[in-house]
Amino acid sequence: MSHSRAISQDEVALRTPLCDLISCRYPILQAGMGGVARSELAAAVSTAGGFGCLGMVREPPELIAREIASVRSRTDRPFSVNLIPAATDPVLFEEELAVCLDAKVRAMIFFWDVVPEAIETAKRAGCRVLYQVGSLAAARAAEAAGADAVIVQGVEAGGHVHGSVSSLVLLPQVAGALRIPVVGSGGFSSGASLVAALALGAQGIHCGTAFLATQESFAHDLHKRRVVAASCEETIHTDAFAINWPPNSPVRVIASDLTETLGERLFGYKVEDLPREAIAMEDHRPIYLFSTDSPLQSMSGDLERLAMFAGQVVGRIEKIEPAGEIVAAIARDALAILSDLARRGANA
Ligand SMILES: Cc1cc2nc3c(=O)[nH]c(=O)nc-3n(C[C@H](O)[C@H](O)[C@H](O)COP(=O)(O)O)c2cc1C
Repeated sequence: MSHSRAISQDEVALRTPLCDLISCRYPILQAGMGGVARSELAAAVSTAGGFGCLGMVREPPELIAREIASVRSRTDRPFSVNLIPAATDPVLFEEELAVCLDAKVRAMIFFWDVVPEAIETAKRAGCRVLYQVGSLAAARAAEAAGADAVIVQGVEAGGHVHGSVSSLVLLPQVAGALRIPVVGSGGFSSGASLVAALALGAQGIHCGTAFLATQESFAHDLHKRRVVAASCEETIHTDAFAINWPPNSPVRVIASDLTETLGERLFGYKVEDLPREAIAMEDHRPIYLFSTDSPLQSMSGDLERLAMFAGQVVGRIEKIEPAGEIVAAIARDALAILSDLARRGANA
């Protein structure tokens, strides 16, 4: 398959400086979802012209090396790897990052508290760094530490949620305050939302939930089916899934019988107060109730009671699709909307 065809006149409208920074055709970034985003998904997104990402939080360095090689066996397009410096044992983090840098991964996407040393190490090796943050203060810290771009996460996002402000408000605030490119994250899944992000000052979008229920994602079918079935009102923002991450790390999940048992109390959970009940297995590893593990194809057990991460945009996901078709639809619809807006402007 050839990836070198010329950019059409139309596509120029979507080509932001971020596309040149990370080498992708469309400014559509797939979030590096831990466990879920492996080589099949990252390669499918990059092949379609988006920017795929391996979600490798706390994975062993050998698995990361294998997954990087596996993406490269599927596509010659660039991709990134996601790690979480502040939620990973420092020795493991150093080894994980070293594997990525040795393999000359194009870009790292980091998340959660800004750790300047992680940015410096990656940059020294010639790697691009995009940092996902949930506030203006954290965005400024990432820029000051040398990040090439920030990904601004709104509170409607799925998975771990670092801030408290919605994308519609936070994104233009950060875009107006920083010099480096800004990417919208949280609630983006469509061509219209890409155009909205560009209008708010972003140079692209970063989508997790939209790529969760894809044929290539490593999420368990149960999780994919829940994504297709859930409405926008059915997510829960809570810090009850506290095992594995630092204290006070809220997530957004699809409501379930388990989240029902939390009643009105959604925040204030501490690891030491939670039961250590193994409810599933992956290989020989026990998976605990209220841990941050989500159901994967490699797991068996009481998967219904695991964290079914998803953002509010879950209500817009109606079927399980190939990831490449999602990238193509977002780009196609965004271009159609832009040309429609331009026509309306010309006729006014
Ligand atoms: C299933 C799932 C797993 C996630 N895992 C990670 C992760 O390992 N690392 C990370 O940086 N972000 C993770 N996120 C958050 C995404 O990076 C991103 O902020 C979020 O998906 C954006 O909102 P959206 O879900 O509305 O697209 C995850 C999100 C989901 C839905």
